[in-house]
Amino acid sequence: MDKLLITGGTPLRGDMTISGAKNAALPIIAASLLTAEPLHLGNVPHLADINTLSTLLKRMGCIINRDIKHADGDDLFTINAANIHSQEAPYDLVKTMRASILVLGPLLARFGHAKVSLPGGCAIGQRPVDQHIKGLQALGANITVEGGYIYATAPTVNGERRLQGSLVRTDMITVTGTENLLMAACLARGETILENAAREPEVSDLAHLLVAMGANISGIGTDRLVIQGVDTLHGANYTVMPDRIEAGTFLCAVAMTGGEITLHKTDAASMGATLDKLRECGLKLNINADGTCIQASMSVGTIPSAMSFQTREYPGFATDMQAQIMAVNTIANGVATISEHIFENRFMHVQELCRLGADITIDGHTAIVRGIKQLNGAPVIATDLRASACLVIAALAAKGQSVLDRVYHLDRGYEQMEIKLRAVGAQIERISHKQSA
Ligand code: EPZ
Repeated sequence: MDKLLITGGTPLRGDMTISGAKNAALPIIAASLLTAEPLHLGNVPHLADINTLSTLLKRMGCIINRDIKHADGDDLFTINAANIHSQEAPYDLVKTMRASILVLGPLLARFGHAKVSLPGGCAIGQRPVDQHIKGLQALGANITVEGGYIYATAPTVNGERRLQGSLVRTDMITVTGTENLLMAACLARGETILENAAREPEVSDLAHLLVAMGANISGIGTDRLVIQGVDTLHGANYTVMPDRIEAGTFLCAVAMTGGEITLHKTDAASMGATLDKLRECGLKLNINADGTCIQASMSVGTIPSAMSFQTREYPGFATDMQAQIMAVNTIANGVATISEHIFENRFMHVQELCRLGADITIDGHTAIVRGIKQLNGAPVIATDLRASACLVIAALAAKGQSVLDRVYHLDRGYEQMEIKLRAVGAQIERISHKQSA
C-alpha cells in the first residue's frame, strides 16, 4: 500500500492545471450505454474510479480507448457500447466503486432489463439507493432486490419493452439518483418530469452531454428537469467540466501554507460557495473573465480567519469540500462551527487531524474547531477520498514530517496530486509499497 511522505512548512508558489471532474466523468461515461454509437470525450481524468467504471463497462462489452490526441497532452477517451453482451454489474466491481450504480438507468432504458449489485455503504455513510429504485419504478420498471442484487425490467406496452415517462419526485435531493433517472427518462416513452432534482454542476454537465447525444431535456440547472423521451440517441463529442472539488482543495492548501498559486482550466462559476468561504478566511482571489483561471494568494505567516458553514445541496456549500475547509480552520484565528447535513458519518478525518494536534470536538452532526498556532507532523491514515485530501493539505502546513497511509483513497479522486503539489514547491513524495516494506 502506497504512502505519502510530507514535510510541512513550504509556501506554495506556481501554476497548477485542474483535471476533469470525477463526478461528471463517471455519469458521462455511463451514458455511453444509451447508444450504439461512440462517445469521444475530452478532459476525462486519470483516476482509479474511472478505471473501475471502465473495467465494468468493458466486461459488459464496451470498447474503450484512451489515446493522446492533443498537443497539450490531453487525451481522447473513446467509448463504444455497440456490442453489449451483458446487462449485469457484479458485486466484485460495484463494491469498489459505488457510482457503478449509474449503469442501472442506462441499461434498463436501452435494453429493457438490468441486474446491478447493490453498492453497499462506505466510510461516510450507509449510502442507500432507494430513491434510484423508487424513481425507476415510477417510470414503470418492475424491480426486485434479492441476494444483494437489483433485478430491473422495463414494462411491455404494445409489444414493446420500454420505460414510460412519468412525474418523479424524490424524497430527498440525490445527485446520482437524479443522474440515473435522467438517463433512463431520455429513452422512455413520453414526458418525464423530475422534481426535487439535484442541481450540482456535474448533473448539468451530464444533461448537456445527453442533449449532444440527441436527448430532449429542459430545465437544466434547476430542480425541475423535463425530458421528452426519444427512440434512440446517437454518439457525440464532449469535453468534461473541470473538477471544482480538486480546485477547491488546492485553494485550501495555499490558504494554509501561504504563497501564491494560479489554477488553470478551472470553472469558477461552479465554485461560488467555496470561493466565498475562502475569501472569508482572507485568501486573495483574482479570477479571469471566463472563470478558467484562478489566482490565489495568502501572505506567508498570515493566520486565516475561522470559517463556519453548513454543508447543503448545490448551490449550498459542498459536502465534498467540508474536510478540506476544516483543515484550514485547524490553524485559523477563532472558532469554527461546521455542520454536515448530507452524510451521517463524514467526520472520519477529525480523529486524524487531532493526531496532528488539531483541537476539534464533535457534537452529533456538528464539529467545533478551535484554531491553534501550529500543527505538528505525525503518521496519519486516510479513511475516505476527501478525508485523505484534507490530511495532505494539513500535513503541508504542519511542522515536521507526516506519513499518510492508505493513499489509494486519494488516488480514487485526485490525479497525480503529489506531482501537482511538488511542482509548486511542496515537499511531498510517494513511497510505493515495495519501498516502504
Ligand atoms: C454524489 O454521491 C457524489 N458522488 C459524492 O461525491 C457527493 O458527496 C454526493 O453526491 C453529494 O454531493 C458522485 O457523484 C459519484 P447523494 P451520491 O445520492 O449521489 C441519501 C466524492 O467525494 N440518499 O446525493 O451517492 C444519501 O445517503 C463523493 O467525490 C438516500 O437516502 O450522493 C445521502 O445522505 C463522495 N437514498 C444523501 O441522500 C438514495 O437513494 C445525498 O446522497 C440516494 C441518496
